Amino acid sequence: MQLLEEQRETWGTRGGFVLAAIGSAVGLGNLWGFPYKLYSYGGGAFLIPYIIAMFCIGIPLLILEFSLGHFTQRAAPDAFRRANKRLEFVGWWGIILGFVIITYYPTILAYCFSYMGDSLAAIFTGAALPWAGEGAEGVRNASKYFFEDYLAGGEYIGPFRGEILFMLILAWILMYFCIFRGVKLVGKIVWLTVPLPWIMLLILAIRGLTLEGSMKGLAFYLDPDWTQLAKPSTWRFAFGQVFFSLSLAFGVMLTYASFLHRKSDINNNAAIIGIADFATSFIGGIAIFATIGGMAHVTSQAGQPVPVNEVIKGGPGLAFVAFPYALAQLPGAAWWSLIFFFMLITLGIDSAFSITESVLAGIVDKTGWRRDIVLPVMSLVGIGTGLMYVTIDGLSFLGTIDGFVNGTWGIAFIGLIECVALGWFSRLDVLRDHANERSDWRLGRWWNLLIRVMIPVVLGTLFFWSLYDNVQEYNAGKFLRDINGQWIINDCVGMGIMVLACVLAVTMSLIRSPHDKTEKQARQQRIEIASARSWGIAGFVLACLAGLIFIPIFLFVNTNAKEEAFLFASFLLGAASLLMCHGLLERFDNGVSRPSGFARLGGVMAIVDISVCLLVILVALSGKVADTQKTPVEHADHLSQTSYIILGVVFVLIVFGLGWCFWKAIGAVAKNEPEQQSEEEPLS
Ligand code: PFF
Repeated sequence: MQLLEEQRETWGTRGGFVLAAIGSAVGLGNLWGFPYKLYSYGGGAFLIPYIIAMFCIGIPLLILEFSLGHFTQRAAPDAFRRANKRLEFVGWWGIILGFVIITYYPTILAYCFSYMGDSLAAIFTGAALPWAGEGAEGVRNASKYFFEDYLAGGEYIGPFRGEILFMLILAWILMYFCIFRGVKLVGKIVWLTVPLPWIMLLILAIRGLTLEGSMKGLAFYLDPDWTQLAKPSTWRFAFGQVFFSLSLAFGVMLTYASFLHRKSDINNNAAIIGIADFATSFIGGIAIFATIGGMAHVTSQAGQPVPVNEVIKGGPGLAFVAFPYALAQLPGAAWWSLIFFFMLITLGIDSAFSITESVLAGIVDKTGWRRDIVLPVMSLVGIGTGLMYVTIDGLSFLGTIDGFVNGTWGIAFIGLIECVALGWFSRLDVLRDHANERSDWRLGRWWNLLIRVMIPVVLGTLFFWSLYDNVQEYNAGKFLRDINGQWIINDCVGMGIMVLACVLAVTMSLIRSPHDKTEKQARQQRIEIASARSWGIAGFVLACLAGLIFIPIFLFVNTNAKEEAFLFASFLLGAASLLMCHGLLERFDNGVSRPSGFARLGGVMAIVDISVCLLVILVALSGKVADTQKTPVEHADHLSQTSYIILGVVFVLIVFGLGWCFWKAIGAVAKNEPEQQSEEEPLS
């Protein structure tokens, strides 16, 4: 495939792009996903898997998506087709699941608008916030207000809750006006929607930290429980959170990079975005837990103590029950809750419109249709499909769909396919060279090993593990069918959407696009010599052997010494095959020679083998690790020494990490090296 140099709209400035990508990454997930997971899975100890995931998977994958988008100057579907003409469906799959996200993400923004309206009303009328209440009763009040009065009460328009519907339309109108003029305008809007929530988050954090009792909350948040590190689920949640938080796998980052100027940096930008996202999550956690600590202090002073772990919940429960309740206990409640919900809106809006933009660009790039026609139609379809979540059972439906998109068949699977597709079926070196040639610092060959071997093995294990969980849940009557054998309607719809997304992705990739012809003309005729066929076949046979050895383990999942020997042998064979096939691609996939197709197939099979081996090991381990409760810090009113060290290390990591990136960027500008514009090589 030849790079098609063409007139494509670009971001105005480097800052515009970086902020837009940060805007997409930093969203509701940072505030109700990260702090809650950190608290539930080991406090400060959770940071170890999270930081490893961010630096070893998140940032390298971000670089991969940026490089592909920038190289091809196309949104996801076309970009994947240009990487390999059979891979277009991978791009569509991500985009379609992205579309599923934008059917429900704006509904959460709609809730925020309503709560912001309530806070404003309380400020103007001087009345108490409608969810206010005291002590343990107050928690019930806040919960009742959200689930019964707000979600299920009030006026209805047909089956739809009137107020939420109105706010949903408002959210879509806002999103429409943010992106209707293209990425130049987005690049300007994000100068507001990114720093503003940061400022508000900082204000909330400082305010939380200055409350009496805040340290108790922080102790809950940070005091490490190292035993959680032995539980594989801690690692699994850390990896999943990094994926969702960096907006990976839905084609968003890829699309944003396709609008980058040809000379723009890739590697350093990815590092800045990853670290900034992590910093936001971490500081968000400080703001939330310090405030909750303050609330615990006030309620116990009033003789109505509320245990912190009863208040803390993840997801919407945190944003619409726990935190509003905590704020309602403190002086100036209405003002603080106004700041909080306005912050959530500014946090979420740029994530929401980033997905809309990626779907829009995917359709426009493929069909050549006009953006100003596709966007309004898409917005109407978005509102139409969003109606499902505005009904009386809307929130539970939203939770199920979100679980599917971010579960087995969503992020984990697409991320895996993306890595396998680009690592094994296109020329990874071309993407690495492309990124290196214009970046402030360069990636070594280790990056190839990460993308082709390490990350697929980790994601493959996560995928099979989620699949295993699904099967267990199905057998226990908790997934798809209940104990009485009745279909669970929400699960069935969710599963249906996942299957439909896959079918639709393949169908879309079969439709011819007007670009096909131009591409064909541009495609260079290359003569490549097929090399090392016998080595390729050897790698493939090794992978098959590893798989064959594996079958007995499947038949007797309870591990005993004999099966452990099988497992070990299978793992070793798989690893040998994987490294061999990787070596063959490294050596021979260079545009002049081409490794045997067996090497590619062998590599993919070996990834499956190793992932399933790891799954069996981890499942066995999970059974052995006792389910420990978080170390009781109920009575702690100060941070432990270890927590201070953790706080210090994280801040040093963030400050030095960002400092190093900016120093590299300044160094590159000062040198002003002429870009080493080598002839761009084909990707497949
Ligand atoms: N990264 C966003 C968050 O943390 O809330 C959510 C998100 C945005 C996920 C865009 C996926 C996406 F494509």
